[in-house]
Amino acid sequence: MTPLLEARHVTKIFGGGLFKRHRTVALEDFSFSIRGGQPSITGVVGESGSGKTTMARLVLGLESPTQGEVLYKGQDLRRLSRTEWRAFRRDVQAIFQDPFEVYNSFYKVDHVLTTPIAKLRLASSKHESRALIERALEAVGLRPEETLGRYPHQLSGGQRQRIMVARALLLNPKLIIADEPVSMIDASLRATVLDNLRQLNQEFGISIIYITHDLTTAYQISDNIIVLYRGFAAEAGDVELVVRQPQHPYTQLLIGSIPLPDPNRRWSDEAPASAFGEQASDSSGCKFAARCPHAFSLCLEKAPPLFHTNQHRAAACYLYQDYASIRTEEMDKVLGRRTALSKMQPGQSPVSAWQTLGDTSHTDAGT
Ligand SMILES: Nc1ncnc2c1ncn2[C@@H]1O[C@H](COP(=O)(O)OP(=O)(O)OP(=O)(O)O)[C@@H](O)[C@H]1O
Ligand SMILES: [Mg+2]
Repeated sequence: MTPLLEARHVTKIFGGGLFKRHRTVALEDFSFSIRGGQPSITGVVGESGSGKTTMARLVLGLESPTQGEVLYKGQDLRRLSRTEWRAFRRDVQAIFQDPFEVYNSFYKVDHVLTTPIAKLRLASSKHESRALIERALEAVGLRPEETLGRYPHQLSGGQRQRIMVARALLLNPKLIIADEPVSMIDASLRATVLDNLRQLNQEFGISIIYITHDLTTAYQISDNIIVLYRGFAAEAGDVELVVRQPQHPYTQLLIGSIPLPDPNRRWSDEAPASAFGEQASDSSGCKFAARCPHAFSLCLEKAPPLFHTNQHRAAACYLYQDYASIRTEEMDKVLGRRTALSKMQPGQSPVSAWQTLGDTSHTDAGT
């Protein structure tokens, strides 16, 4: 079956022109695929600058890849007809980090909901439009009478973001790409918005790409996870497998560095020493080699591809070079599994979901 959305060997390089040193490789040889009929939540995690937003903008068609292609139902986004582009914009919705930015402070919040209805002619009367809006607001746990008719500043950050979720829902999409949707919201409201996203996935069958620097919430709601490091996918697969038995040395470092129960701690910069240090920073090999305790000479020569270490996971590390490197078509299987159903209970705090991992997580490079 043709995937709903697919990225094939996508690379994005910003700037540079003639000057190589001014270039930023924001994303490198990135592939993934999301099937339409199999709703899942895929977490994309990585520290600041790892390429998460660039990835989101590329798959939303807001940026063009320098190399590779992004396909919607098998068609390159750059070659969609007007009608196909409209269908894409409806099927694939975005929710961004700062809900305030999306609102125009001169308009009541109703405006962000009535505009897409009018543009896409989703209702034939004001009455029908109102009914659609009320249903969408109720689906994310907001009371229409307490929400509509207000100006953006009269609502909390959490309410504003939940209206964005309702707005995405109005268009009945197949996929929502949410880039740091809860990072500007008070910790106390985060769980509610995440709950909303999970609900959309389970009750409305919408796939979600959840982008975050916070591994804890990614673990909490995702079925699958992609770990980005400086623009490349270090590891990808079933979230339980990746979090409990991380294979890539970077993921091992990451998971080892998140203390329980403080999910808000930032990513660690401390790494065990690499035998190669600075020498590795300038090489064209693995970008993690300079920090990697397992690095050996091959790591400096050539960037490792994702090796298909198990049906539901892959790691871009030569420790696993005995496995076949993954083909793009196989990303479907790696990211196709659902396990998150029981992980987060409605109203459960992010900390307690992470705590259920307890001491059972370990970091065994060989698994
Ligand atoms: N328009 C641009 N022009 C030049 N460089 C860019 C542009 N957009 C992003 N970059 C660079 O690409 C890299 C990846 O940026 P990106 O915004 O994708 O990271 P991110 O993972 O979303 O980070 P954060 O967690 O801080 O949001 C960074 O080094 C950034 O400076
Ligand atoms: Mg970002």
